[in-house]
Amino acid sequence: MKQEKNRATWQEIWKKAPQVSLDQTPGYTSWLPRLLGTEKWEPPQRTPKEAWREYEKELYTPLLNYARTHPSPTYAEMFQSCFPGLTESCCFAANEFRILSFEKTVDIRGKIFADIVKKYLPAPAIVELGAGTGKTLLSIRENLPPGPDFIGLEPMPSAREIMKIFSRTMPDVTIGECDLLTSPPWKAFTKKIPEGSIIYTSFTTIFLKGLNCTQYISDILSTSPKAVISFEPFPGLLDNISLHNLLIKKYIDINKYENKLFHAIKTNKNIKIIYIYIQICFLQAHFFHAQLLYGPKNKI
Ligand SMILES: C[S@@+](CC[C@H](N)C(=O)[O-])C[C@H]1O[C@@H](n2cnc3c(N)ncnc32)[C@H](O)[C@@H]1O
Repeated sequence: MKQEKNRATWQEIWKKAPQVSLDQTPGYTSWLPRLLGTEKWEPPQRTPKEAWREYEKELYTPLLNYARTHPSPTYAEMFQSCFPGLTESCCFAANEFRILSFEKTVDIRGKIFADIVKKYLPAPAIVELGAGTGKTLLSIRENLPPGPDFIGLEPMPSAREIMKIFSRTMPDVTIGECDLLTSPPWKAFTKKIPEGSIIYTSFTTIFLKGLNCTQYISDILSTSPKAVISFEPFPGLLDNISLHNLLIKKYIDINKYENKLFHAIKTNKNIKIIYIYIQICFLQAHFFHAQLLYGPKNKI
């Protein structure tokens, strides 16, 4: 499968992108009036069944149709053919706003995440729970030295099929089923998660209203991971002395994202938080990824 390869560091790519100020961000996102309260906003109410349908039928099925009918698509080509609005967006990193193409967004995010994962190699496997199309997992793989296996677990059948198409020449990639709302989440996965793996989620736990945080943490720790990473928006990591931070917090708040996991991680006696790198926003200037890294206290 054709890959979006770029050997430059994420900082090199980032510094070449056009820069804008915080004041200019309303020109790149429709969210500011909602965040400032001048336009009313209510997130759509979805039952779990409707959310499932939305992912499987409205998001992943058209993407899968594209991947099946095009011999060697890149992720950017596949996403942009189904969602033509995904062109460039205002992103935030290194305390700056810059305009990035969708392709560069995927690439830089993969490089940033890989830089964090790299600190904890060697590990037998890198495991993503809720891996979607594999866009993040394969982008991390692209930026790591060979060695670990990559395991992408995802509940939606069409997304797993897309991952299979994109990884068919990669013997080090295994795809399986998971559901973070059941215990253990990898019950339907036929293989074992290797001891000492690096396990992460990316933009997944925040959408799961019914997540039992205590059980989730205990299930993850039961695999004896080397490290666990939440690439998720945790507003609890942000101070209140920056206008951008306040906008981010408002964004999380008005969208009613699931927010209990951060507290559960912080207060869990079996966990040591080992690394926090906060503050990147990709695709949407005020929707951030924190990078919270933790692990079993007795191992880390
Ligand atoms: C916003 S997408 C993020 C995909 C991927 N992690 C990434 O970073 O590109 C959220 C993913 O969570 C998955 N998901 C939804 N319900 C889930 C559940 N109960 N357990 C695990 N994953 C779930 C969705 O199917 C979707 O692929």
